[in-house]
Formats: sequence, C-alpha cells, structure tokens
Amino acid sequence: MKKLLFVDDDTKLLNGMERQFHAMRGEWQMKFMDQGPAALEFMAANPVDIIVTDLRMSGMNGAQLLENVRDRHPDTVRLVLSGQTDMEISLKLAGSAHQFLAKPCNPDELRDAIKRAFAMRDLLSNDNIKRLATRMTSLPSLPSLQNQLAEEMGVENPSIERVSEIISRDIGMTTKILQLVNSAFFGLPQTFSRIDEAVQYLGLGTVRALALSLQIFSQYNQKTMIHGFSLDELASHCWQVGVIAKKIAQAEHGSPKLNDQCFLSGLLHDIGHLIIAFNLPEQSILVFERARKERMTICESERIEFGTTHAEIGGYLLALWGLPTPVVEAVSFHHRPADCFSQGFSICIAVHVANAFAHDSIELRQDWPGHGVDEECLKKIGIDNRLDFWRNRCLGNGG
Ligand SMILES: [Fe+2]
Ligand SMILES: [Fe+2]
Repeated sequence: MKKLLFVDDDTKLLNGMERQFHAMRGEWQMKFMDQGPAALEFMAANPVDIIVTDLRMSGMNGAQLLENVRDRHPDTVRLVLSGQTDMEISLKLAGSAHQFLAKPCNPDELRDAIKRAFAMRDLLSNDNIKRLATRMTSLPSLPSLQNQLAEEMGVENPSIERVSEIISRDIGMTTKILQLVNSAFFGLPQTFSRIDEAVQYLGLGTVRALALSLQIFSQYNQKTMIHGFSLDELASHCWQVGVIAKKIAQAEHGSPKLNDQCFLSGLLHDIGHLIIAFNLPEQSILVFERARKERMTICESERIEFGTTHAEIGGYLLALWGLPTPVVEAVSFHHRPADCFSQGFSICIAVHVANAFAHDSIELRQDWPGHGVDEECLKKIGIDNRLDFWRNRCLGNGG
C-alpha cells in the first residue's frame, strides 16, 4: 500500500481533498493533517512515500516543513501544492521540493502527478538507486561553464542568448532551470523545453540567483568522478546527441515543439550516468571495467550491478523533478525504444538513433561495444528505410 501525507492548514480544503480521493483508498493509505510540526511527528513514527504540502501555513510554513522532511526523510517524494507564486520562496524550495503544483489544483491533475511519481518509482526495481535519486536535489555542473556563466552575468548588460547558450551546454544547470520553470508553481499553462525561453521567462536576475546559489548548482568535485569518466566528455556526447536528435526530427518534418523536445531529450539522455558516477563512484568503476573486460554493453553491466540502467535512473529523476513526460519517456527508453509507450516515430526513436550515430562517429569508448540501432524496432514501425537518409543528413554534409 502506498503511503501519502497531505498537509494544509485550511481544514475545509483538507476535508475536500479527503472526499475527492476517497476512491483511491484501495491503493493509497492517506493521512490528512493541518500542522507542520504534527506532520513531522507523525512521519517520525510512520514514514510516508509522498508528502503533499501547502506553503503558507501558520507556525511552521511549507518550506520549513519540506526542509525538515528532506533532512529527516530524504527518501520521501516532496510535492508542494500552493496558491502562492513568490519567486524568492520558489528559489528556496528548488532545493527541497521535487515538484510544485499550483492551487487551485484540479483533483485529477494532483492525482495524476502522484500516480506518475509512483509509476516511475515502480519502474525502478532497485530500492537503493531509488533512494539515491530521491535524495538528489541538484546535479553536478561543469566548473568551466559555471565560470563562463559568472563572467557573462558580471558584464553590464548580460545577453540572454549568451546566458542560454552557456546553460544549455550544462546538463545539471539545464535540468534545474527546467524543473523550476515547468513547475505549475508559476501557473503557466505551457511546458518549456527550450532554455532560452525559460531564461527569458525567469529573467536574468532569477537565473543569476540560481547560478550563484551553490546549494542548487553543486560544484562538480573532481574527486567524486571516476577514473576514465570525464564530465566534459559526457557533456559533449550529450550535446552531440541533442543536436543529432533534433536534426532527425527536422528530417521527419517534426513540429518546432517536437524538434525542441528531441534536442532536450538528447541533451539529458545520459543524465543517469551522472547520477551513478556522482553517488556511487566505486560501483561505477566496476560497471565500466566489467563492460570493457567482458565485452558487454554498459547497460548489461549496469543490470548486473544495480538491476537497472542509467536510462531508467535518469528518467526517474527527471519525472521526479516534473520535466515534460515525452522527455522522461525518451530518456528512460533510449536504449530499448521497442518498450517505449509512444507509437510510431517518436522522440525516443530520434534519441535512440542519435545516440547510436554519436557513438559511431566519435567512438566515445573504443574499447567498449557501442550501442547499435535497434533495426528490428524501426522495421516494425516501418521507418527502417529512413536510417541511411538520417545518417547522411546528420553526419554527412547534408546539414
Ligand atoms: Fe545511454
Ligand atoms: Fe549516450
């Protein structure tokens, strides 16, 4: 049984929620409370899977409550449901909340957000890994890009284009900015897949505050990275996959939104490597060594080590952070597109093929078998004849 805790000092609203979710009683064990301290006391004796809290509450407010929950129960998924859209508070929350939902929230929307969080948790079979991703509040950023960003921010009139360009080369910064801007917290009806639009929307002041806050953009620590695995190398591979995936989508006459989501998914596709290398450096070395020695793919080696792969781990974190569902799906299934829920040509297919092209073109790791294209899957969809065209267009001089 999944355990949920709802906290709101508006008891009327709390009662309303209890009624609305009555039908979920078979699947969810729910507790409704109107005070932060009492909620913490309850959690000390009864750990929950997900907490949903209001922000503005008398006594302990939602931000303080979530900070406590993050420290005492880092494995709990933390959602905010609030009518307040204060930039300063939302920046503070970026380090403690996984997702923000805006009030008034349609009960179906809240139920779906909770269900999605549970579904992604179920997809990951390894509890340790699940715990590890839930505990992460930021991802490492490249120091060189952080310096460039600080430099650009320091000039008299920083350019949004230049700032966006720097951010979009960094997986950690990109994910954090998109997490923030895609939160329903700001009450925006659309989802953002483009960093320049996100920066434009948030404003340079907010981005500067985010960039300077070490709590949010954790500095990449050389010592935590594993032997033979460089963050620079991963960043340039991801950038290349993003560019190629977008070109493939353009070749298929994708809409501008689809093209952008292909780029973003490509950029984030190997985010799981970052999570593993950053948190489990020793096991990460084992994974790479086994793959090299036994001539197996990294995914096969990861399955032996963790029972899951970097693809699912990355997808889980992105889902937890509220990134657009098609992006989460493409990242989760980039090595096994046949299992993806989307039918026909999809972002997942574009990223899967782009990843194979990127490995072919630069031989990221010559001593490990690369990840080829799942031609069987393309054949089933009826697009296997497009492969050569894509290859020429992306890797040749076809633009
Ligand atoms: Fe991958
Ligand atoms: Fe990759």
